Amino acid sequence: MRTDTGQVFKLEDYRPSDYLIPAIDMAFALAPDATRVVATLTVERRQGVAAGTPLLLDGDELKLVRVEIDGKPLKEAAYAVTPDQLTILAPPAARFSLTIETEVNPSANSALMGLYRSNGVYCTQCEAEGFRRITYFLDRPDILSVYTVRIEAPKAEAPLLLSNGNPVRHGELAGGRHFAEWHDPFPKPSYLFALVAGDLGRLADEFTTMSGRKVELGIYVEHGKEALASYAMDALKRSMTWDEEKFGREYDLDVFNIVAVSDFNMGAMENKGLNIFNDKYVLADQQTATDADFANIEAIIAHEYFHNWTGNRITCRDWFQLCLKEGLTVYRDHEFSADQRSRPVKRIAEVRTLRAHQFPEDQGPLAHPVRPRRYREINNFYTATVYEKGSEVVRMIRTILGAEMFRAGMDLYFERHDGDAATIDDFLKVFEDVSGQDLSQFALWYHQAGTPHVTVSSAYNASTHEFTLEIEQSSPPTPSESRKRLMHIPLAFGLVGPDGEDLAFGEVSGATVEDGVLHLHKRRQTVVFKGLSERPVLSLNRGFSAPITLSLEQKPEDRIFLAGNDGDAFSRWQAFNTLLTDALIAGFRRMLGNRQPEFAASLGELAGRIAANASLEPAFRALALTLPAEADIAREIGKGIDPDAIFAAREALARSIATVNEEGFRQLYAELNSDGPFRPDADGAGRRALRNVLLDYLALLPGGAEFAALHFASATNMTDRAAGLTALAHRHAGTPQAVDALARFENEYSSDALVMDKWFLIQASAPGPAALDTVRGLTAHPAFSIGNPNRVRSLIGTFAGANQTGFHRADGEGYRFFAETVLEVEKRNPQVAARLATAMRSWRSLEPVRQGKAREALVSILKVEKLSADLKDIIERTLA
Ligand code: ARG
Ligand code: ZN
Repeated sequence: MRTDTGQVFKLEDYRPSDYLIPAIDMAFALAPDATRVVATLTVERRQGVAAGTPLLLDGDELKLVRVEIDGKPLKEAAYAVTPDQLTILAPPAARFSLTIETEVNPSANSALMGLYRSNGVYCTQCEAEGFRRITYFLDRPDILSVYTVRIEAPKAEAPLLLSNGNPVRHGELAGGRHFAEWHDPFPKPSYLFALVAGDLGRLADEFTTMSGRKVELGIYVEHGKEALASYAMDALKRSMTWDEEKFGREYDLDVFNIVAVSDFNMGAMENKGLNIFNDKYVLADQQTATDADFANIEAIIAHEYFHNWTGNRITCRDWFQLCLKEGLTVYRDHEFSADQRSRPVKRIAEVRTLRAHQFPEDQGPLAHPVRPRRYREINNFYTATVYEKGSEVVRMIRTILGAEMFRAGMDLYFERHDGDAATIDDFLKVFEDVSGQDLSQFALWYHQAGTPHVTVSSAYNASTHEFTLEIEQSSPPTPSESRKRLMHIPLAFGLVGPDGEDLAFGEVSGATVEDGVLHLHKRRQTVVFKGLSERPVLSLNRGFSAPITLSLEQKPEDRIFLAGNDGDAFSRWQAFNTLLTDALIAGFRRMLGNRQPEFAASLGELAGRIAANASLEPAFRALALTLPAEADIAREIGKGIDPDAIFAAREALARSIATVNEEGFRQLYAELNSDGPFRPDADGAGRRALRNVLLDYLALLPGGAEFAALHFASATNMTDRAAGLTALAHRHAGTPQAVDALARFENEYSSDALVMDKWFLIQASAPGPAALDTVRGLTAHPAFSIGNPNRVRSLIGTFAGANQTGFHRADGEGYRFFAETVLEVEKRNPQVAARLATAMRSWRSLEPVRQGKAREALVSILKVEKLSADLKDIIERTLA
């Protein structure tokens, strides 16, 4: 474990390395406990660097076996070595060959960085700094090398030998061993290196690119699971076509391989020509995967594939530029999913995710700019801000420039920077160059942390036919940035007339308004629209054009009108969601005052109308009827959070909506019962989503347990089965129906780890204080393993991140358990532990008693000696 050294890496300290490594040859002799790696680096001193300048290579827990220069062993005095660094004290020439032999232990590698074993399969994860756990190297993304890799292993144990690039040759060796050689002609940074060796099944296909190049596609999974990869394969081919059509980007090697492994720190990894995936994002069929799983697989397959251009062909100069590849690639996978499915539904889902994950990060102690300026542990910066907000920033560039100019900018980016390790400044420059626009104020979206806040009030003057907006922007302080600069905020909008059509307007003063977008640049702007003979209803931030929080003074009648009539589907959803949120906040306040929450009848009626409106797609109706999550409500309230009061208010609203609409909901539920063949596409998923939302409501009514039990028992796919089990375990915990369903599910799927994750997740998110004992008990379940990231995330991550009433128990026991468990995870896997610990980031918004207990738990972690750099960084920032 790499313990904390307190070292801080700063963007302003960036300088090019003294040496380059244009080529590297590697030979792996695989063995479970003692793999030998011989790396031969072609080293070149950079122009202008003094002869004899020491060469410092990065390592991490490495054991050096030998080191040679130009084929001759190096004298001991000529180098210095520790597990973390190899220094060639005085390199002999401007260009030389350096051979390094290291020994690593894949079986003992529980951090899952570098070379490790997962279910007996050798695999690697090198981003961000895992390559230095394989050999000593200049392990930084601006060192681009051509890789040639030879892998040798016992054939019985590892019939499959894969690395990046194209296969060169393979053959038999004495003693039952064999080898394979791979060559990747595209110079790449070390974080994109990959190796896989083992005994796996293969789903094969092929793809012909737009220029007629044939590519062999392979997805490797556990033997017998090949058919479960067919949806992923289909998504891959659709991704390849889409990137050609939408961005003119074609695949560039003879083979494209994907390997699914069951121990993986993140979602997946875009290694050149050899993507490695968490098997959760590859394997699916209707019996084992939910519609959400299918959608995630499609998105992540696309994401990693799209990295081939945005990440691999053009990589990052340094890790501060991580959003250059991640934000952009998330933007591309969002657009892909929008094109494959329903664009408005996709957008609503994206915004919900952004608000659920990025907003609390941006509004809490872990806030950082999309392009950070400093870090202690880079693995802690694979965040919602870098990914999700990073994508929003790219989306805003398109909003500001327009689709055509945006595409021209992307074309220039690919043309100008192919083969480069580039920066955000390079990225912004191409858009400035194609459009002639000055994006310097806009660039603050990359450089300034925090969620900008915009307040708006409006007034209509019937005699002058003027509609006036008073707009003010502000950005709250974030860690180490107390004073904020003013942002360029592009707000898509419409002035909606009584018939639901946008009204035309005349002259506008006080802001630039172009193509339905109002551009804010100043602290205060008074915007006047002339020529409006009727009072318009303002629809602002349509499509969530800017990732801001918005206080819009608006009458409930206007919101109800927008919810039914806005031409922008996102804004219709937003209007209704705002009504629900306001009602829930009022309900929460009544609860705190020991009064029962009360809800306007109009809300339930509107919900009923939305549910029954056949002109709206079912997936949209499902999203509209989904009440804001407890955490969403907490975020809107901001401080003094008592999760029990929020839960009670939400529960009361759900009951009142269910009661008012019982008949309609039951009828619609029955109508949605489709008997046709299962399709994981947007339509099929949308119908199931709506039916399952109705289930959630109906499960709250008398007879709800029987109703949910029937839903569970008659389910023909995992989406419905999991929804039924959730309704039982969350709303009817302890009833015979719930106990029985949990037991049946466990019985049926005990040997399918990914399905058991759902079983863990459903129980870990069951509301109420009893969840803690359940979760504690489940850590001893045979299907649970503290060393497996997916298991830990489903049980512990869900409990801490998605169980407001269970985790935030008033007695603080949830936090104590959590602190203990995080430390337990850390011993094996610091990265996963640090990620888990971010669940505490909003602790300051709790009411004082819980806040005190949360703080105690955080402090107890810091008292442990020799914390990993990963965990210490998160806890210290969380407490700061
Ligand atoms: N580049 C990967 C992706 O977003 C994420 C890998 C991050 N891994 C890590 N250990 N930090 O597609
Ligand atoms: Zn990525």
